[in-house]
Amino acid sequence: MANTNFEKYKSDGSLGGNLLEWVDARFPVTALWKGHLSEYYAPKNFNFWYFFGSLALLVLVIQIVTGIFLVMHYKPDASLNAAGIPVAFASVEYIMRDVPWGWLVRYMHSTGASAFFIVVYLHMFRGMLYGSYRKPRELIWVFGVLIFLMLMAEAFFGYLLPWGQMSFWGAQVIVNLFSAIPLIGEPLSIWVRGDFVIGDATLNRFFSFHVIAIPLVLVGLVVAHLMALHEVGSNNPDGVEIKNKKDEKGIPLDGIPFHPYYTVKDIVGVVVFLMVFSVVVFFTPEGGGYFLEYNNFFPADPLKTPPHIAPVWYFTPYYSVLRAMVWNFFGVDAKFWGVVGMGASVLVFAFLPWLDRSPVKSIRYRGPIYKSFLTAFVICFFVLGYLGTQPPSYWGEKVSQVCTVIYFAFFLLMPWYSKIDKYKPEPERVTWK
Ligand code: HEM
Repeated sequence: MANTNFEKYKSDGSLGGNLLEWVDARFPVTALWKGHLSEYYAPKNFNFWYFFGSLALLVLVIQIVTGIFLVMHYKPDASLNAAGIPVAFASVEYIMRDVPWGWLVRYMHSTGASAFFIVVYLHMFRGMLYGSYRKPRELIWVFGVLIFLMLMAEAFFGYLLPWGQMSFWGAQVIVNLFSAIPLIGEPLSIWVRGDFVIGDATLNRFFSFHVIAIPLVLVGLVVAHLMALHEVGSNNPDGVEIKNKKDEKGIPLDGIPFHPYYTVKDIVGVVVFLMVFSVVVFFTPEGGGYFLEYNNFFPADPLKTPPHIAPVWYFTPYYSVLRAMVWNFFGVDAKFWGVVGMGASVLVFAFLPWLDRSPVKSIRYRGPIYKSFLTAFVICFFVLGYLGTQPPSYWGEKVSQVCTVIYFAFFLLMPWYSKIDKYKPEPERVTWK
């Protein structure tokens, strides 16, 4: 890594200086500080789209810290207490009503889950706008898609824990999808649940994955994501490689030190984000039934199926793809193809670096065909997301089928349309006012 080239700290004779020199001789504090902050040169033309990476880091920290405090009072137990309420559900109510500041910690965590997806979706979209997944940043992107998959798993496992009606029936629907796999489906879904229905065994294993296994993997992947980023350097809204034009000291002409310039700029993003986040946490923590579904305020009841089961909003585009598949191809049940389609609609993101053949990276220099496909993709993503929250209907099904086709066409036709599309030549240096 580049930071091994940095000199060790030489003390100025002060107490702090002596201490730093002592540590530096044993652990590369100065090298890490310079390599990743004060002498990490980032393009000087970052715009607001570049806030979302640091905001994703902030939300990750919020989730981990609030999660640690929730675990102190939460009990993963599906048995009924003396009042006939499941212990897990009652422990969340206890946090909300009796634990000092418990309501705040819980609402920060539940709002944090939705905030995480909002921030990460915007972060991914920035990557698509500016072609940040293109060479040499393919691995940053692939680590990103793995982070996204882990995030979905983390949210899914976490959603079962309050043991409300939606927790229970949502998990029931999703785990049942495994049973659509030919031959091994049924035993596989029993193995995943640890029971014939979602039960105490399921709750305990989901708890274990949610609080330790997935967070560990997530943090490891975020470290890998940032190491890959700092190896090749950041892209920017022009998609121009700043490393191609350096001064005599080897510093990119269009680069500025990350610290203090971008640390200060990111604080602006953090302040604005925390303002919006606080408004939701304090005034509308249910987010209109989208952040916390109303049905989940009822304890799980295996004998009472809610009339309409829908996943939380951040899963609904893929849920719509699942429901759009209604044909039994090759004699295999439509549910199986739905699962395949749903999986593919997430995994296909990982292939973007190799599907895009445009000579330019940034949307600023791309032609009308790419812009039209991207616009259609975004519209379809929203439409699928909306339809996924709605009960099944004839027209909903037809529209979701059309949108699913457009969704996949955006990716699968990209090698063709990104090549034939018109483009404007990229400038040599970044544009900056
Ligand atoms: C926990 C989730 C994530 C965290 C904490 C995170 C963090 C970061 C940070 C701090 C940066 C540098 C600042 C910036 O460019 O905004 C970054 C860059 C980047 N991230 Fe993420 N990220 C996450 C998820 C993702 C996902 C899901 C993807 C894509 C699927 C992704 C793709 C990228 C790309 C391509 C860059 C380089 C952008 C550029 O140089 O233009 N990240 N990430």
